[in-house]
Amino acid sequence: MTDFLDIHKTDAGDLHKILVQAKAMKVARADLPKGTPDADAPLANHMVALIFEKPSTRTRVSFDVGVRQMGGQSMILSGSEMQLGHGETIADTARVLSRYVDMIMIRTFDESVLLEMAEYASVPVINGLTDRTHPCQIMADVMTYEEHHGSIKGKKVVWMGDGNNVCTSFLHAAGQFGFDLTFAGPANLEPEAEAIGYARKKGATVTIERDAHKAVEGADLIVTDTWLSMHDKQSARERRHNLLRPYQVNNALLQTAGKDAVFMHCLPAHREEEITSEVMDGPQSLVFDEAENRLHAQKAIMRHCLGV
Ligand code: CP
Ligand code: NVA
Repeated sequence: MTDFLDIHKTDAGDLHKILVQAKAMKVARADLPKGTPDADAPLANHMVALIFEKPSTRTRVSFDVGVRQMGGQSMILSGSEMQLGHGETIADTARVLSRYVDMIMIRTFDESVLLEMAEYASVPVINGLTDRTHPCQIMADVMTYEEHHGSIKGKKVVWMGDGNNVCTSFLHAAGQFGFDLTFAGPANLEPEAEAIGYARKKGATVTIERDAHKAVEGADLIVTDTWLSMHDKQSARERRHNLLRPYQVNNALLQTAGKDAVFMHCLPAHREEEITSEVMDGPQSLVFDEAENRLHAQKAIMRHCLGV
């Protein structure tokens, strides 16, 4: 049994094994109705708690469906409706939940909540997004890229815009999967130095670029995300939009990148802000395959955590 807290905290060999299993599980149930259980029911008799302290569509539904397809049972808990949101400590919550369930997935604000949950829980804990990282997303992203274009190793990935939590996990993945990452965005929204340092230490080339068009030259994959994350203050909206507008992913940018570049976005997207509909719905966009692969990647992550 093991946690899945971050891409750089999981062994690179295990990350590859997770993706191989995810692909196999996806193929095995292709075209079946979504409620059809997987033949081997690897999570039979397992109970999984899914805790959300922030909104979610994809993470919530894909984890819930994933547990059920694998023969387990899940419960979705809202942080504000738990005693956790009313003064009970994270450590006590972790110890109590461990008496009822076999695994915990948590989406929260500060990373310290996730880490404390993992420290005190005696069952595996999975990171469903914090202010700092979003590892399950990037596992689905790597899976999606590789489904369409083969190994991501040595490819040029360009992150456009805000150096946020999803970007940080991309940097961790650059180190673990061996691709190069160019960040194109404003100086005061650069990704954290620690993640850049990590990726470089692992041999990835990390480039910081202010010019969006220059950044995407020769890109294999272009990725962006919302200009205001769930942990950002609404009052910062206008300032951030003004800073990030030059980094919108639109058709002109895609033309610079070339027809072989593909586009991804973790979603939810704010159309005509960070991404135009022409790109999002265009032939180079993989966004809905990417969303689907959350389900398959996370099923394999859960199996990895439980050792089943
Ligand atoms: N990409 C992602 O995590 O989406 P949700 O916020 O809908 O879960
Ligand atoms: N960066 C976004 C990702 C949403 C899935 C956020 O944290 O709100």
